[in-house]
Amino acid sequence: MTREVNAKAPGKLMIMGEHAVVYGHPCLVTAIDKYITVKARISEEAIDNFSVKSFDDRFVKSALSVFRYKYSIKNNVDITTESEIGRYGLGSSAAVTVAAVKALAELFEIKLGKQDLFNLSYKAVLKIQKKASGFDLAASIYGGTILFDGKTKQVEKKTEESLPLIGAFSGVKPDTVTMVNQVVKLRMENKNQVEHIFRCIADLVMKAKEAINRQNWKYLGELFNENQKLLVRLRVSTTKIDMMIEAAMDAGAYGAKISGAGGGDCIIALVSDEKRQSVEKALTEVGGKVLDITVGVSGVK
Ligand code: PMV
Repeated sequence: MTREVNAKAPGKLMIMGEHAVVYGHPCLVTAIDKYITVKARISEEAIDNFSVKSFDDRFVKSALSVFRYKYSIKNNVDITTESEIGRYGLGSSAAVTVAAVKALAELFEIKLGKQDLFNLSYKAVLKIQKKASGFDLAASIYGGTILFDGKTKQVEKKTEESLPLIGAFSGVKPDTVTMVNQVVKLRMENKNQVEHIFRCIADLVMKAKEAINRQNWKYLGELFNENQKLLVRLRVSTTKIDMMIEAAMDAGAYGAKISGAGGGDCIIALVSDEKRQSVEKALTEVGGKVLDITVGVSGVK
């Protein structure tokens, strides 16, 4: 039996800056306590063997192909994945890619710094998604709550502490690529207007960074609401999302917005301890699925 190694990477929740980050603007993202574990060992057969969830399959194979090419690996491998993330838009494809590259590095005893791990993982994801910012990979690698620069791909760590967030799933997870392409199309049709929206989002992200530093949740909530208005203008909100956001606000949230590509997907609401229960109840009543998550956890191990 050959040596087996494993790597465990967290999923993510986008806090602010989705879509604009694809065009080089900054975003804020946090790692969550839902993980994907990748186990790898050198195969005793002349083929690779995968025991992988169907929606992770392409990302694991892409990670293996990028890694194999970069380090001229000739061996075949057995790769198994275990996921706690599911299909809620919580960063499963990024987490599985990061965990796969990390596990392969362990297996072949190659020392990878965080930036190397990002670069390889990003290459693997771009082979599949073509247009992606890499923010979710950075969250999975660095952990905590980070400011991610969409242009330089640099990370500024904000905090390891939890933010008073509620995440809730709308019931549908459209393909991220479809939503990204929808915004690409809108930008082609209204370049100045959409570029202006992106700049406004970037401005809110920088204000949100300061609000997080000062733990000023009321102000951060107001910034969420401003960001949501801009996401509506990018046409990535839906009736269901609007209903969930309204329910959260009526129940006393500081602010609420889409988290991720939109078109369904998840929302996040910022709440005080006193209002948490009533906001969770209100979200459930309009058909949202409140997620049992802790945010700001450590990165891949
Ligand atoms: O839907 P998610 O959680 O995969 O988030 C996508 C966020 C985008 O900014 C729309 C795309 C990206 O690559 O940054």
